[in-house]
Amino acid sequence: MVQFSLPQHSKVNKRGKTYPVPAGAKNIRRFKIYRWSPDDAKNPRIDTFFIDIDNCGPMVLDVLITIKDEMDSSLTFRRSCREGICGSCAMNIDGTNTLACTKSIHDIKGDVKVYPLPHMYVIKDLVPDLSNFYEQYKKIKPWLQVDKSAVPNKEYKQSIEDREKLDGLYDCILCACCSTSCPSYWWNGDKYLGPATLLQAYRWIIDSRDNKTAERLDALNDPFKLYRCHTIMNCTNTCPKGLDPAKAIIKIKQLMVDMVRD
Ligand code: SF4
Ligand code: SF4
Ligand code: FES
Repeated sequence: MVQFSLPQHSKVNKRGKTYPVPAGAKNIRRFKIYRWSPDDAKNPRIDTFFIDIDNCGPMVLDVLITIKDEMDSSLTFRRSCREGICGSCAMNIDGTNTLACTKSIHDIKGDVKVYPLPHMYVIKDLVPDLSNFYEQYKKIKPWLQVDKSAVPNKEYKQSIEDREKLDGLYDCILCACCSTSCPSYWWNGDKYLGPATLLQAYRWIIDSRDNKTAERLDALNDPFKLYRCHTIMNCTNTCPKGLDPAKAIIKIKQLMVDMVRD
């Protein structure tokens, strides 16, 4: 049932543009979407779109694609796999950082509010600047580092038990939902590595095949890079893949203590 007044023509006011209801629409939901453009003097604003959800796929990403195809081709957002694998479509939906391609509109009550990931510079609309995030990821050297003399000249095996230690870590898709939900990362994102990068760091620290464990821990032993985590748990609560970055950070801190004792 429609519970709001429905515009038949597009309207623009100081707060944003309201697009008309699609002709013949019966099952309508209202979407409020953050807009910011480097070429626009009216920044930021919230645009309102009415979508006939009987004529649209069930996910928030389906709605964004419908809007871009049929209402406003300038709406800008990232997406690629539409299967929760690539991490591109991370954004803030209904107040929570998540993936637009796996977030069902049927799980949201009332208006659907869509914003970019919080506390990041915006490039355009729903696209945040992730340069610092990727730079930090690069700094942890996210690849297997091995002493070639210690490696057999054939398949480099790992026991089943050691392989299992990577579960819940290798699955991270680097969507940045966790880091951009972390208050410590909001205030110190230039120096604190944040939960996504730290979970990835732990993934290589704990890999039984890697020979640089001590160097990796040393590189994190700094008042900001690791110790700005205050175990607030926003990161774990928001991860759309059900991972636990806060636990990975605690494990790194435990290994730091063990390293100092040794
Ligand atoms: S831990 Fe989860 S929220 Fe964080 S980057 Fe990885 S998949 Fe995304
Ligand atoms: S547990 Fe640590 S990393 Fe996660 S949100 Fe809290 S402060 Fe940030
Ligand atoms: S489009 Fe790839 S995770 Fe959403």
